[in-house]
Amino acid sequence: MSILQCIRPELQSLRPYQAAEQVDDTIRLNANEAPWTTAGAAYRRPLNRYPEVRPGRLGEVLAGIYGCAPDNLVITRGTSEGIDLLIRIFCRAGEDSIVTTTPTFSMYRHYARVQGARIVEHPAAPEHDFAIDPDGLLACCDDSTRIVFICSPNNPTGNSLARADLQEILERCRNRAAVVVDEAYIEFSSQPSVVDLLERYDNLVVLRTLSKALACAGARCGSVIAAKPVAQVLAAVQAPYALSTPVVECVENALADGGFDNARDWIAGIKTERTHLARRLAEFPFVDRVWPSDANFFLVRADNAGAVMAHCAAHGVLVRSFTNDLADCIRITVGSRDENRRLLEVLADYAESLR
Ligand SMILES: Cc1ncc(COP(=O)(O)O)c(C=O)c1O
Repeated sequence: MSILQCIRPELQSLRPYQAAEQVDDTIRLNANEAPWTTAGAAYRRPLNRYPEVRPGRLGEVLAGIYGCAPDNLVITRGTSEGIDLLIRIFCRAGEDSIVTTTPTFSMYRHYARVQGARIVEHPAAPEHDFAIDPDGLLACCDDSTRIVFICSPNNPTGNSLARADLQEILERCRNRAAVVVDEAYIEFSSQPSVVDLLERYDNLVVLRTLSKALACAGARCGSVIAAKPVAQVLAAVQAPYALSTPVVECVENALADGGFDNARDWIAGIKTERTHLARRLAEFPFVDRVWPSDANFFLVRADNAGAVMAHCAAHGVLVRSFTNDLADCIRITVGSRDENRRLLEVLADYAESLR
């Protein structure tokens, strides 16, 4: 028994689309491409040619950064596409289910609905700083569970799951369900990535993205890191040529010459701002709670959160409402020093208006 058996039976042996062969320095009359390139589109790979079916070189670079083998990694159009693909390959419509914590990133629910998979939610309590109880989470799993989603650090609460707790969940889901750990914000966390656990657990899947700490949200580039059989089925289901030449080259450029290492300074700066902002936010009399965060945002509970948000918006500062899920809660992203300073001015102005 392996994780492959948890994948939809009709997909377990799916082979990828057979794309036209791509060989350098040949006359390519095998893909119905145009023989001329359009003006103003200067890329290393000419735009009249299809991109690689899967970006090989970029895959190697990302695998090196994330610490896995290239054949454990599938590059996706943002991790959002990875979430969609995972639910599609593991869940049969009307039969299978996913388990998530709540509150968490809404895309797990969204794509489960699109696929017709049942959603079981394990609530994490604000009074316990949204800590996930592995026993409670596992009690939500049954024979229909195909994926357990764990967002760590979690959006919108900012807390992380301890590695030992994850290992317990992985162990108890072995041969039953995939455990997807969404590490979209891991670069801001003091905890390391859990990618290395893939060697021990074939049911672990890790999601990484260039959208957050790597400042490439506009490029739409994420990675699903999984056991090889899972990666193969994901790649077979994903559209061929999913990543366009401009995106691949722009990301290659961004990562060239230690781009990932250079981001460390920016990340350190955000962490410093995070400490400063948390302290300052907690000082406002209308702020009732600022939860500790391992990510680049905070969940804040404020008296009359709607009025706080409206005041911020009226002064050109947007923050995100979570009041539908959590009474009076707002998520605030840690911005640049100037942006944070402006946020604090606007909030001070709001506090003044209450006096
Ligand atoms: C937890 C989490 N996962 C994934 C994503 C999506 O990231 P991407 O831009 O890679 O699709 C987000 C975006 O906000 C997120 O908060």
